[in-house]
Amino acid sequence: MSDAYLSTTDIHLSFGAVKVLRGVNFEVARGEVVGLLGDNGAGKSTLIKVLAGVYKPDSGTVLVEGKPVEFHEPDDARRAGIETVYQDLSLVETLDVTANLFLGREQRVRGPLGRLGFMDKSEMSKKAEKDVAELRVNLPPVSTPVANLSGGQRQAIAIARATSWSRTIVLMDEPTAALGVRESQEVLGLIRTLRDRGLGLVVISHDIPHVFEVSDRIVVLRHGTVHLNVAANDTKPTEIVGAMLGAYTGANGDD
Ligand SMILES: Nc1ncnc2c1ncn2[C@@H]1O[C@H](COP(=O)(O)OP(=O)(O)OP(=O)(O)O)[C@@H](O)[C@H]1O
Ligand SMILES: [Mg+2]
Repeated sequence: MSDAYLSTTDIHLSFGAVKVLRGVNFEVARGEVVGLLGDNGAGKSTLIKVLAGVYKPDSGTVLVEGKPVEFHEPDDARRAGIETVYQDLSLVETLDVTANLFLGREQRVRGPLGRLGFMDKSEMSKKAEKDVAELRVNLPPVSTPVANLSGGQRQAIAIARATSWSRTIVLMDEPTAALGVRESQEVLGLIRTLRDRGLGLVVISHDIPHVFEVSDRIVVLRHGTVHLNVAANDTKPTEIVGAMLGAYTGANGDD
């Protein structure tokens, strides 16, 4: 697809003797949710980390708006508008919502005090309140420590942090894995809201119904290659399971 914002061609990556990605072609456009499925060890998290600049592929190309890029570190991907929500969320329990939203990008007060390291807490909590309000999910005041939040609320904070910096692509590794039914629905609603706002999202999940609920397109990885890449409307769970487990060989049936 030519309108992909972020894409890859023929990505290979090995860890020692283990070939984890074996020629991955992948793409995501603005305003699109791509559900990324595959059995344990298929290479989903590894692919996300290549897109996020955590791992450099052994060969193959990552492209932003069709132009080859080299991400040497996650900040390179961030500068290209690509943010990631990892499964562990990387939140700090003892800090409040505002501090977590600004982790690593704290705003200092203007002038000499700022140069001495004084933080602009009131500006940061104003922006935090705005970011959280935009998500339209049920969240406590931004001064609440993360330790007091539910799983779904934590996920929402991690997503708020990513989306407050990226208006382009957000990669999510199993955003509903640890959540109950109601919280999962909140997070899925949030994903749809962000998509409708024009972001492109890649959502890894083991939960096939969740993937069908939010995805425009579904990609199945198996043994480090793409075995299925279809519009969600054109497929059904049995085909997905077949592609994950190997019954369905698709266009790329090399094993
Ligand atoms: N840093 C690493 N060093 C060595 N091997 C790794 C590393 N990261 C991942 N692997 C291996 O690469 C393979 C793919 O791992 P990856 O985490 O990408 O799978 P996944 O599809 O996300 O699986 P899951 O659904 O269980 O999260 C696994 O065999 C894993 O052990
Ligand atoms: Mg994983």
